[in-house]
Amino acid sequence: MLPSWEMKPNLTPRKPFLWLISVRCTDSTNAGSLVYRRLHLTMLSNAIRIHMCLRLLAALGAGFDCASNGEISQVISIGGIDPSRIIFANPCKANSFIRNAGKVGVDTMTFDNIDELYKVSRTHPRAKLVVRILTDDTKSLCQLGLKYGAPLVTVPGLLAKAKELNLDVIGVSFHVGSGCYDPSVYSDAIVRARSVFDMGKDAGFSFSLLDVGGGFEDSLFEQAASVLTDAIQQQFPDRRHIKVIAEPGRFYVSKAFKLAANIIARRAPFSDSSTEVAIESDQPAVMYYINDGVYGAFNCILFDHQVAQPYVLSMNGSFHVPSSEPLCTSSVWGPTCDSIDCVCPKTELPAGLRVGDWLGFENMGAYTVCAASQFNGFEVSKVVYTLGGAIAAEVRNKLAAFAAAGHGL
Ligand SMILES: Cc1ncc(COP(=O)(O)O)c(C=O)c1O
Repeated sequence: MLPSWEMKPNLTPRKPFLWLISVRCTDSTNAGSLVYRRLHLTMLSNAIRIHMCLRLLAALGAGFDCASNGEISQVISIGGIDPSRIIFANPCKANSFIRNAGKVGVDTMTFDNIDELYKVSRTHPRAKLVVRILTDDTKSLCQLGLKYGAPLVTVPGLLAKAKELNLDVIGVSFHVGSGCYDPSVYSDAIVRARSVFDMGKDAGFSFSLLDVGGGFEDSLFEQAASVLTDAIQQQFPDRRHIKVIAEPGRFYVSKAFKLAANIIARRAPFSDSSTEVAIESDQPAVMYYINDGVYGAFNCILFDHQVAQPYVLSMNGSFHVPSSEPLCTSSVWGPTCDSIDCVCPKTELPAGLRVGDWLGFENMGAYTVCAASQFNGFEVSKVVYTLGGAIAAEVRNKLAAFAAAGHGL
């Protein structure tokens, strides 16, 4: 596991930006946990549309889970990535996307319904199909089972149809939901996957892929790894012909980026109390407006159930806020004209904070800028890479070796 490094960013010009702190990386030789030593790492490219992250993970031997043609092109554009390292893990794809995947050599793809099988048989009959099954996702922030995953009772029918259409099904995938806060659910998911392997055998297939999906939270990763390791050991004691992969998205990048936003406006009570407008006492007295919001990188508040907690990055030109500075109950808002654009409804911030100062936000690497819009004409925050500390050299060397091996830059 590579430790973090950190450097203070350059705060001019006054545009919001994300800066890279570190990428959680691991490979089969230096992995910190048992499960990682066994898993072929596959990462989700839609969580991290950040080119350097993709390059670094590619250099470390990760595979890629793509949701669309656009993501497949992005991974292939890195250069030298064999398409067999990509799984097209969207169970409901447009015909043109399936056809294109076949053209560029991406054969492994998921499905969870009969219509998809007909589409694949017409557009990419050589595909290596992976049946995405429904598992318990009630212990996760984002319940993907609402949309995807075949209930186990439907799987024999799906497999029979695949056989009839002369399609190859090579394994099973699941996703316990993104932001899983109770890793014990992986255990039941593996039991279900085991029973689907048996269904596969009954249907005349020989499954060789077990894809345990994503859902990994940074703070619970070791626990999740341990639950998975035990369950896989129990349910799949003979793994000689089975490749096990995972699709960690959030885990790799959420802590890798911080966001810096500039305070562009402030609404506060007049200091002359005679003209002060009455304010309900439990309401924040001061409203700060920053230059990124829920239509931008903070879409994670609406779509990813995140809570944004600001801290003072710089005040009055200094990175240091004296402990004597009084605090004031405040709210933080995005720059658009919409009132839903609230980044933080209530927090304590220094009373001396003014227009031009900067707020910072931790853990802004996953599901942020990749889903940001330019609503009201505001640009999506740029990404700035900072390097510092001992680990920077290791990362640079890895990237340089990757480029020298013919993977462009
Ligand atoms: C198919 C698939 N795999 C992996 C992931 C990554 O999940 P997470 O970021 O929770 O690890 C997602 C997220 O939506 C997904 O849809």
